[in-house]
Amino acid sequence: MILDGKAVSEKRLEILKEKIEESGLYPRLATVIVGEDPASQMYVRMKHRACERVGIGSIGIELPADATTGRVLEAVTRLNDDPDINGILVQLPLPAGLDTTRVIDAVAPGKDVDGFHPCNLGRLFSGSPVFSPCTPQGVMTILEEYKIPIAGKRAVIVGRSIDVGRPMAALLLNADATVTICHSKTENLAAEMQNADILISAIGRAKFVGPEMVKEGATVIDVGINQDEQGRLCGDVDFEAVKGRAGAITPVPGGVGPMTIATLMENTFRAAKMRTCDNNTVW
Ligand code: GUN
Repeated sequence: MILDGKAVSEKRLEILKEKIEESGLYPRLATVIVGEDPASQMYVRMKHRACERVGIGSIGIELPADATTGRVLEAVTRLNDDPDINGILVQLPLPAGLDTTRVIDAVAPGKDVDGFHPCNLGRLFSGSPVFSPCTPQGVMTILEEYKIPIAGKRAVIVGRSIDVGRPMAALLLNADATVTICHSKTENLAAEMQNADILISAIGRAKFVGPEMVKEGATVIDVGINQDEQGRLCGDVDFEAVKGRAGAITPVPGGVGPMTIATLMENTFRAAKMRTCDNNTVW
């Protein structure tokens, strides 16, 4: 079975659009981009386009590549204090030399639609999440939509990043999976991966995952965005080689990627609703 993230994201965006219309709210997202990395610019453009589609207002703050951490913090503080802004997203990675941790920590937790603030990560790990990081939450949505059983299953995550691997582990643990996180120092990586009922790859190495690493019938989720030798977009998983062995598998492109943006839209609507019912004082 091919897990069609594109189709799931389209469905979720349509549902969200209706919910936003019914709510009478006009949620607003602010993006902050520092420098001119083409990939980051493309992602931010896609996020603004998705906002327009579902009825979320968006503004983009663009800072030069040589902006100081202080300048970025100033921009974030202004957005925190702006009552018309519900969600704030600082596009990562920031240019070298900027203090990413200080910037993430500066975002008001109630507007942290990326879910990277320690408050949000802490709540996720304690089992009562408010905003979860968009990519792993998008993976959970795909698993739910396709009714892939999670409780009691062995989930193996390859990659321990703060935006994917670690929150993915917390989300799967919250859904009662037995979770293993693997990384570059893991011994017998292939043996760990072969144990997985649900295998999540977030390594960033083109076609690294071959059929010998996958248990027959496993669900394989590919979070990688890489380029192959011909410069074409591909995931961490050798899709053609693995698809016959997996029970279910996400393609790249058209798998996890579109879900990240759909989840960002859902988080932004959530931020707008929270503000309405709770005056943004959820902490
Ligand atoms: N860069 C790559 N993925 C993401 C993401 O989900 N959020 C932000 N802010 N930056 C990213």
